[in-house]
Amino acid sequence: MVNFLGDSSEVNANMEEKESVIKTHFEKFITFIRDHWKLISIGGVIILLLMISVFLITFFAVRGSYESGVHFGVREILIMHVSSLHNDSLDNGNDDYLEFPTTTVKTAKPSSTTTLKSLTNPVFTTTSGKIGKIHVTFLCIAPLTCTNNFTMVNGKCWMLINNSSIRSDADKMCKTYNGATLVSIRNADENQALTDFLKDENINTLWTGLYCFGETNITACIWDIQAGSAANYSSFKVGYPDADYGRCVFYIGNGTDIGQWENEECGETMPFVCELPPTVHEGTCDFLYNSHCYFRIDMMKNITDSQHFCLSRCSNLVSIHSANENRFIQSIYDTNFTNIAIGGFASSKDYMIWMDGSPTDYNNIQFSYAGSCVIMAAGTTDTGYWYTRPCNETFWFVCDRPAGFSC
Ligand SMILES: *[C@@H]1O[C@H](CO)[C@@H](O)[C@H](O)[C@H]1NC(C)=O
Ligand SMILES: *[C@@H]1O[C@H](CO)[C@@H](O)[C@H](O)[C@H]1NC(C)=O
Ligand SMILES: *[C@@H]1O[C@H](CO)[C@@H](O)[C@H](O)[C@H]1NC(C)=O
Ligand SMILES: *[C@@H]1O[C@H](CO)[C@@H](O)[C@H](O)[C@H]1NC(C)=O
Ligand SMILES: *[C@@H]1O[C@H](CO)[C@@H](O)[C@H](O)[C@H]1NC(C)=O
Ligand SMILES: *[C@@H]1O[C@H](CO)[C@@H](O)[C@H](O)[C@H]1NC(C)=O
Ligand SMILES: *[C@@H]1O[C@H](CO)[C@@H](O)[C@H](O)[C@H]1NC(C)=O
Ligand SMILES: *[C@@H]1O[C@H](CO)[C@@H](O)[C@H](O)[C@H]1NC(C)=O
Ligand SMILES: *[C@@H]1O[C@H](CO)[C@@H](O)[C@H](O)[C@H]1NC(C)=O
Ligand SMILES: *[C@@H]1O[C@H](CO)[C@@H](O)[C@H](O)[C@H]1NC(C)=O
Repeated sequence: MVNFLGDSSEVNANMEEKESVIKTHFEKFITFIRDHWKLISIGGVIILLLMISVFLITFFAVRGSYESGVHFGVREILIMHVSSLHNDSLDNGNDDYLEFPTTTVKTAKPSSTTTLKSLTNPVFTTTSGKIGKIHVTFLCIAPLTCTNNFTMVNGKCWMLINNSSIRSDADKMCKTYNGATLVSIRNADENQALTDFLKDENINTLWTGLYCFGETNITACIWDIQAGSAANYSSFKVGYPDADYGRCVFYIGNGTDIGQWENEECGETMPFVCELPPTVHEGTCDFLYNSHCYFRIDMMKNITDSQHFCLSRCSNLVSIHSANENRFIQSIYDTNFTNIAIGGFASSKDYMIWMDGSPTDYNNIQFSYAGSCVIMAAGTTDTGYWYTRPCNETFWFVCDRPAGFSC
């Protein structure tokens, strides 16, 4: 007890002592600041400058691969980003395109998002792009069609190939049609549409683009290998998916289980349906895919000259936004070991931007060698992967613009 009280008064005394010590320290501190504020602020400024220069040095070291010869001036590259909306009422075989009031541009890419559908007149807006470039957005109305003699079914383009093939051959054969994939089924409407499409075709089973990497795990069943899982929608028969039966998935086209899916060994043979996205029609494109117009240019040029060449055709060096589009680009080359320039800049394997200002929503860079220009291994024996090279090297290239322009 006594001890305790004694201790507590000692503590109080200590506290008072400490408080006064703190007070005098604080006063000294204030006085110091008052006397030396000029020196202190000069020191602060110097530290700030040091930090900024360290940041800048790091920044430029990271992008060291930007060659001094490249001047992608903000104004050197015209960004033409075009999107549009699709008016169903025009989708009646009428191939006329609406003309913009202010430009010679005729039609543009139908947006997959139809949030702007309620607009009935073409809209013309200009906004500034991400990296300070001109960024023009056109909105208009255009009918969608299918290329390669595919049939429009429920907003997709399909073609039945009634030739029993193993899954890998089926996939390769589809690819020869502008990089088409095996059929993908993303919702109940599409599943029903496939049943209707196969009516009268006397097809019992057919390969789909679904491949299961896991045993019975539906999130491991992936469309076109890279185009999303079947977790959101599937029509598996009870007891499936089960990769024990095989990793490839087929569709049942007749009988009581019609419209359901099962796993099967990929070496089995069956007919298949190939799929392409529908597109705005344009006759003058070398290649037409998903409402974009592509030009394959077999000339060796460095990146600056390539982009200038593309601009002279109202286009940009190609930007690639999905594994399926990448597959399409690869499908337009029929030679081994073809390396082509695409319109990407990469300061590292994981950081890339597109020259046309479009979002980086797909990145297939596997190797970052020297340089920051993105090259695609597009030969028939390659897998379409990307890597980087110095921008003063010369490559073949592909230009791309929204379909429906006349320049
Ligand atoms: C489509 O265009 C027609 C005129 O061509 C218009 O009457 C109709 O309302 C439009 N529909 C939509 C959904 O915008
Ligand atoms: C479409 O079919 C017609 C007739 O069968 C054929 O002549 C034409 O070459 C085909 N077009 C394509 C792009 O396959
Ligand atoms: C059917 O597929 C086989 C390979 O599976 C191929 O050799 C053959 O040419 C194809 N036939 C037709 C008519 O496409
Ligand atoms: C597809 O091939 C099967 C078997 O070869 C045949 O029975 C069927 O009639 C064919 N269907 C079409 C539409 O050609
Ligand atoms: C299913 O597969 C996904 C993707 O492959 C994985 O993230 C998840 O952990 C798996 N779930 C189970 C229960 O195995
Ligand atoms: C499932 O659907 C949602 C919303 O439509 C989408 O954001 C998501 O990416 C889809 N997931 C897969 C695996 O496709
Ligand atoms: C469905 O396919 C099976 C197997 O080929 C066949 O025996 C059966 O007759 C077909 N059923 C219908 C309704 O076509
Ligand atoms: C391309 O590669 C394939 C397979 O490696 C080979 O058979 C073919 O001869 C090559 N073609 C050329 C033109 O080099
Ligand atoms: C590309 O080549 C042109 C000459 O054709 C040259 O003027 C330009 O500096 C080169 N650019 C790069 C980045 O090497
Ligand atoms: C690219 O530039 C580097 C140095 O800037 C030079 O060593 C190299 O020879 C150039 N390559 C070409 C193809 O011009």
